Amino acid sequence: MPKLKVAVLGERGLVGQMYVERLTDHPYFDLTGDLGSAGVIFSALPDCAAQEEESKYAAMGKAVFSSASYHRLDSDIPLIIPEVNPEHLDLIPIQQKKRGWDKGFIVAKPNCTLQSYLLPLFPLHQKFQLKKLMVTTLQSTSGAGRAFELEGNVLPYIADEEEKSEREPLKILGSLSEDGITPLYDIGISTHCNRVPVPHGHLACVSCSFEVEPNLDKVIALWNDFPGLSLPSAPMKPLQYIDDLNRPQPALDVGRENGMAVTIGRLRPCNLFHLRFVALSHNLIRGAAGAGVLTAELAYQRGLL
Ligand SMILES: NC(=O)c1ccc[n+]([C@@H]2O[C@H](COP(=O)([O-])OP(=O)(O)OC[C@H]3O[C@@H](n4cnc5c(N)ncnc54)[C@H](OP(=O)(O)O)[C@@H]3O)[C@@H](O)[C@H]2O)c1
Repeated sequence: MPKLKVAVLGERGLVGQMYVERLTDHPYFDLTGDLGSAGVIFSALPDCAAQEEESKYAAMGKAVFSSASYHRLDSDIPLIIPEVNPEHLDLIPIQQKKRGWDKGFIVAKPNCTLQSYLLPLFPLHQKFQLKKLMVTTLQSTSGAGRAFELEGNVLPYIADEEEKSEREPLKILGSLSEDGITPLYDIGISTHCNRVPVPHGHLACVSCSFEVEPNLDKVIALWNDFPGLSLPSAPMKPLQYIDDLNRPQPALDVGRENGMAVTIGRLRPCNLFHLRFVALSHNLIRGAAGAGVLTAELAYQRGLL
């Protein structure tokens, strides 16, 4: 099959540059600097620009994969983690009908912190049904964009991050109907999001409870057995448990499987919840450009591009 022409919006930014790196010599996609001739657009724009620009390109008939948060919670926009909710791509014809777009569409990826804990929680949720979740994140400086600097300090506030971290999982785990996605409202989530002076990698300290209390050995087995997708950017082992009390660490573990694996450690009982653990993902790759490219590969495999 001939490669599809693709382009990046906001390509000089941190996420845009990562898109360029991951799309160079891609087996399905041919990166061009010409937005007009591209059929697929990877958007690395900030929210303020994404609202108008992404809709404009979708209305022109292009498939738009968005990194911004503007469209994420619209009920007709798929919010995808490819290993978790690939079936939500079936929303695309509903979105096109609702918005009057004959060929174009928008697909969003979730907030960059979510991948670190929602991916490990997903196989546990499938087996034991997640009920309560408390997460404290330690988020890298590159998560705040090119212009951000932080040294020798921790910031205990990231604008809108806790709201996104608490709402988006409910949509991702929600169910698809002809009207759009109905979020899974019966999970209680509380998050604390902090910015720390680490260049890459968002670390999440997670405590959680389920409908049925899991056995800890079973939890590790579910993580080890969680399958990778058969796509060019997909990690072979998306979830990697490290049996070492002092891991995962951003400096040592964030690059596993080309930045697409989530590393997990310190699984143990919790005094207030059923269990607790620590998980880490690369914010610019698994949390942004790598996830965007993987989602587009999934759409390509499903004949949507
Ligand atoms: N950083 C992360 O870890 C991460 C993870 C997930 C999602 N995201 C999301 O990805 C997007 C990009 O983040 P980033 O970290 O790459 O930010 P960034 O480094 O600040 O880059 C933003 C890019 O957008 C361009 N831009 C800004 N305003 C624009 C406008 N009005 N019209 C057209 N282009 C405009 C900038 O152009 P110039 O080069 O001309 O300044 C720059 O290329 C944001 O929506 C962010 O929330 C980021």
